[in-house]
Amino acid sequence: MANEEETAQNRRAGRNANLHRANTEKNDEFYTTYEEVEKELNHYAKQFNNKVIYCNCDDHYGIGLGTPKSQFIKYLADNFEAFGIKKVIATHYEPEKTSTMYILDKDNTGDGIICWEDIEEIKLKGNGDFRSDECIKLLQQADIVITNPPFSLFREYVAQLYQYNKKFLIIGNMNAITYKEIFPLIKENKLWFGYGFNRSMVFKTQYKNTLEANRKFVISKGYNPDDNYIKTPAVCWFTNLENIKHQELINTGKQYYGFEEMYPHYDNYDAIEVSEVKNIPMDYDGIMGVPITFLDKHNPEQFEIIGCADYTGKYGSDWLCVGRIGETWMKKYREQGGRGHYTANMTSLVYYDNNGNAIPTFKRILIKRKK
Ligand SMILES: C[S@@+](CC[C@H](N)C(=O)[O-])C[C@H]1O[C@@H](n2cnc3c(N)ncnc32)[C@H](O)[C@@H]1O
Repeated sequence: MANEEETAQNRRAGRNANLHRANTEKNDEFYTTYEEVEKELNHYAKQFNNKVIYCNCDDHYGIGLGTPKSQFIKYLADNFEAFGIKKVIATHYEPEKTSTMYILDKDNTGDGIICWEDIEEIKLKGNGDFRSDECIKLLQQADIVITNPPFSLFREYVAQLYQYNKKFLIIGNMNAITYKEIFPLIKENKLWFGYGFNRSMVFKTQYKNTLEANRKFVISKGYNPDDNYIKTPAVCWFTNLENIKHQELINTGKQYYGFEEMYPHYDNYDAIEVSEVKNIPMDYDGIMGVPITFLDKHNPEQFEIIGCADYTGKYGSDWLCVGRIGETWMKKYREQGGRGHYTANMTSLVYYDNNGNAIPTFKRILIKRKK
């Protein structure tokens, strides 16, 4: 029995190790499904009219996985005429050899419609790295960049989009929100989020995840887990395209005055804790700490983002002058049995609840109502 258990444990550990390797070593090879591309891009159809769209991490042929082609190119080709797109350009990366560019802009087959069959292939001089001179020349021609870029190069990828002043719609992970290269763009209203925010999505990969929870999720989305489809949590679309959801006003119907006990004041910063977006009080003019999920609903006309606590870049805890947690709060927290990795020197936002318990928070966005 002990041996059976050990074997099962070893198998589990092996599976987890495989998955961990996949997530850490090669987490760039995650291919987006048509369903996810369609679900997001449908919202921007009007903005694609008469535009040159560049997918600069996208292969026409599915990058050796035997999958269908990049679902971005497929979707844009399928909707080329309906959206009135001017041109689709795609390039992909071949680390060790010259790569190919794909162009769709006219009816090459002469059948009267511009679609998938009309894509032209042209050899590139280099390997299709989005940072290469020839890909940058293509980028300069583009109005909008749309893709799921390599996560390992996300910072550099986004920096390049701003360097060339591009509109974009790209997939990334929630973790990227508090990259020091990304958060300032959010705070300064230069970057916001698409319709898909903090979602679990299914991607085609080179790996298997045989865990039951993964299999169930993948099947529930209509994909076969044995074909290397994997659930990936905390995915969102990062964009600077116009998006109606950020023009709507949050109206929770909640009030601060008369319900002050619902909104404890932080011990180390002059702001109140609002632990759920649905509880943001509509009558409070001071600074409020809200969870990162607030960014899904943020309308810059309604609230100003002041900064982010528990984050070390520009507009982070030090920039905001968040106080140190302090010995008194720490002592109380430990007495209660708190085992989190806090020290008195840290600048996470902390408070005491109505029973005097020491409560920590994690990565709060600090916002203020606009007058
Ligand atoms: C997350 S995958 C997404 C692929 C495709 N855009 C999709 O959504 O199905 C990112 C892709 O970027 C490619 N890539 C990695 N480094 C790159 C680079 N420097 N330039 C362009 N593409 C790169 C990877 O090989 C990978 O295929």
